[in-house]
Amino acid sequence: MGNFCVCMGGSAKCASASAPFESKVNPRSSTSNSNSNSKASRRGSSGPEKPQVAEVQAAAAGEEVAEVPASLKSFSMADLRTATKNFGSTSYLGEGGFGCVYKGWIDEATLAPARPGATNAMMVAIKKLKKESFQGHREWLTEVTYLGDLHHDNLVKLVGYCSDSDSNKLLVYEYMPRGSLENHLFRRGSQPPLPWSTRVAVAVDVARGIAFLHSRDVIFRDLKSSNVLLGPDHRAKLSDFGLARAGPTGGKSHVSTRVVGTRGYAAPEYVATGHLSAKSDVYGFGVVLLELMTGRRALDESRGLASELLVDWAMPMLQGERRKVIRVMDTRLGGQYPKRQAQDMAALALRCLQNDPKSRPSMADDVLPSLQLLLQPTTAAKSSSSSSSLTTTSSRSPATTMTTPVQRGHRRHHR
Ligand SMILES: Nc1ncnc2c1ncn2[C@@H]1O[C@H](COP(=O)(O)OP(=O)(O)OP(=O)(O)O)[C@@H](O)[C@H]1O
Ligand SMILES: [Mg+2]
Repeated sequence: MGNFCVCMGGSAKCASASAPFESKVNPRSSTSNSNSNSKASRRGSSGPEKPQVAEVQAAAAGEEVAEVPASLKSFSMADLRTATKNFGSTSYLGEGGFGCVYKGWIDEATLAPARPGATNAMMVAIKKLKKESFQGHREWLTEVTYLGDLHHDNLVKLVGYCSDSDSNKLLVYEYMPRGSLENHLFRRGSQPPLPWSTRVAVAVDVARGIAFLHSRDVIFRDLKSSNVLLGPDHRAKLSDFGLARAGPTGGKSHVSTRVVGTRGYAAPEYVATGHLSAKSDVYGFGVVLLELMTGRRALDESRGLASELLVDWAMPMLQGERRKVIRVMDTRLGGQYPKRQAQDMAALALRCLQNDPKSRPSMADDVLPSLQLLLQPTTAAKSSSSSSSLTTTSSRSPATTMTTPVQRGHRRHHR
């Protein structure tokens, strides 16, 4: 991001890896339907009951007093200092646009700070808002209201929050031990590359999470590999709801809003017009599919103007009669994937990346079932590879073959 922050209250100093497209959400942005951002209008009749709420005193001058679900634990700053060893460098996990993230320990039952490794203690991830970020306060509020309310296996669980009179704003999440998908795909370190079968399973999990949000008329708006976190078994969950917002109501196709999001992932019509719909998330999902296939970042400025955007680089090789899917595949896979599955995933990514949002598939009715087909093992499928990592094959690809691949960002932007 090029940003540099010194996190408060501790010793960790961190430089962010991503750049803002624009700092994120504006809950009061104009919409094509009135009052569409209220909690009530966010949910259709099938939505969850209005939760029990507690008031959180927004500390920044001029901010409203917000309601947050009472099911969330309200932590004091002292609690979180204790839980993270005073936000010290040994607790540091990473940094994003919101601020730094630390691991901490709390008691499973009482949620009081606990000693690392103590009986009944559980690890949590604690995100600490940069104090200077006014926009971050809005994101914090959005995140608390959405994540406090929406619960699903593929959404990261929010345990609680801290908001005090010193303008401290923090979020306490379940700890996701394998970190972000971004780190797995792009960090060149000692860790082995994600095998193909895991990439397919991650895509299914992400699709499930997004389909769930869309069923609740919520648009995620910041889908990217750094916002996909992996659990111990590589089960994936969506995190970062600071940009989430209510979808259109009353038969409208979109809401009109200020353009926020991450360059490389944001849908073209949204960037051009501010028209936001569930199909904007589908576009972002298409980009994540490309990242999973190619091992290349959505935006990589080091590759030069012509190919800095993954979509621009990959699309010409994926469409047309002479599709060259093999040429875009991640070389770190070492060819260990069924060629037919790669082709199916490429075809799905292409549909998600259609310029016209109406031509993009629906997450629940089309994307998810298509991906789930890739997870189904078929006895007919025979792999030419001896790779143990290859545990799934497409039910649509009985003549599965393995290929030898030839080849194989995150950055917020704004208008
Ligand atoms: N719940 C969590 N469990 C474990 N690690 C986490 C958790 N949440 C965040 N992290 C770690 O902290 C890093 C920073 O996360 P954060 O969401 O703040 O930033 P980001 O997603 O990289 O950027 P952005 O602010 O643009 O979303 C992640 O890459 C991840 O390694
Ligand atoms: Mg994130």
